[in-house]
Amino acid sequence: MACACCFSKLCLTLLLLVVVLGSSNAQLSTNFYSNSCPNLLSTVRSTVSSAINKEARMGASLLRLFFHDCFVNGCDGSLLLDDTSSFTGEKNANPNRNSARGFDVVDNIKSAVENVCPGVVSCADILAIAARDSVAILGGLSWNVKLGRRDARTASQSAANNGIPAPTSNLNQLISRFSALGLSTRDLVALSGSHTIGQARCTSFRARIYNESNIDASFAQTRQRSCPSATGSGDNNLAPLDVQTPTSFDNNYFKNLVNNRGLLHSDQQLFNGGSTDSIVRGYGNNPSSFNSDFASAMIKMGDISPLTGSSGEIRKNCRMMN
Ligand code: HEM
Ligand SMILES: *[C@@H]1O[C@H](CO)[C@@H](O)[C@H](O)[C@H]1NC(C)=O
Repeated sequence: MACACCFSKLCLTLLLLVVVLGSSNAQLSTNFYSNSCPNLLSTVRSTVSSAINKEARMGASLLRLFFHDCFVNGCDGSLLLDDTSSFTGEKNANPNRNSARGFDVVDNIKSAVENVCPGVVSCADILAIAARDSVAILGGLSWNVKLGRRDARTASQSAANNGIPAPTSNLNQLISRFSALGLSTRDLVALSGSHTIGQARCTSFRARIYNESNIDASFAQTRQRSCPSATGSGDNNLAPLDVQTPTSFDNNYFKNLVNNRGLLHSDQQLFNGGSTDSIVRGYGNNPSSFNSDFASAMIKMGDISPLTGSSGEIRKNCRMMN
């Protein structure tokens, strides 16, 4: 009888054991799919690799997708859901609209993974692996990715608008946004080193290159040539976030900041006479400390409120709920 069991010490102990085991289940682990999908990592890697061979920037775009997923209600694949007539997702939130890219590559990875292990691997985990592989392929350090996330059945455009920091943010705003998610100031600086790869649109840096004084003059001039001052003209023209090596995952981003060559207002905030100057200098002088802090910070970011156990689902198609 259920009731008799409730009051027995043995049953309470068993119950406790189930709760404890159940909650330890709710943790990510590096070997989560080692039995259920032994070829997962090589399958993702080869699809990411061919996408980057086609277009080096794609590595940057995939890395950014993971960030934009994790910063909005956790790393749960919510970013990947398409809008429909009855559902508003995150793809048209301000930080993503006309900017987030690589969704077609995520689809390719997902189909390759579904071919080898149907219905097993979440889209949220695919983003985590693709981000790691992108960094490694472009010359950064690799790390062991924790896995076991499940996919959300919800998304939030307003949480994306409020949760992903804007390039107009000042240092305090950046620090507090990261801190709200359990990421330290050092994590903020290390993770911002992602801007050693990839591109930004004129609209994201126009105000900085025309109106700010903490910018190298010749750098500003160069950027102005392909980003007209008038709002609405050339808004989508691209410029590299790292003026030196935009397809190499190195520490040039930090060297640029020290020389007032940060492209975004938010980039230069990290080296503008404030508390993070010394961290930026440190990473600029010591690539291996950047690389190892970056890897740890990516693991921390990947731990932001995942869905685990029986929460959420394993989507069949990353663009829609099952
Ligand atoms: C610290 C606050 C951050 C701000 C304000 C910020 C803002 C931006 C902006 C405005 C762009 C250009 C978008 C466009 O114009 O289309 C961009 C690009 C990018 N961001 Fe960030 N970002 C931040 C942190 C991060 C983090 C933590 C990562 C990764 C872990 C990241 C990865 C990237 C990458 C790789 C690109 C280039 C994407 C591409 O070329 O497709 N960013 N970011
Ligand atoms: C620069 O600042 C001036 C004065 O605030 C403003 O009118 C102008 O629109 C700004 N230009 C850009 C490109 O942001």
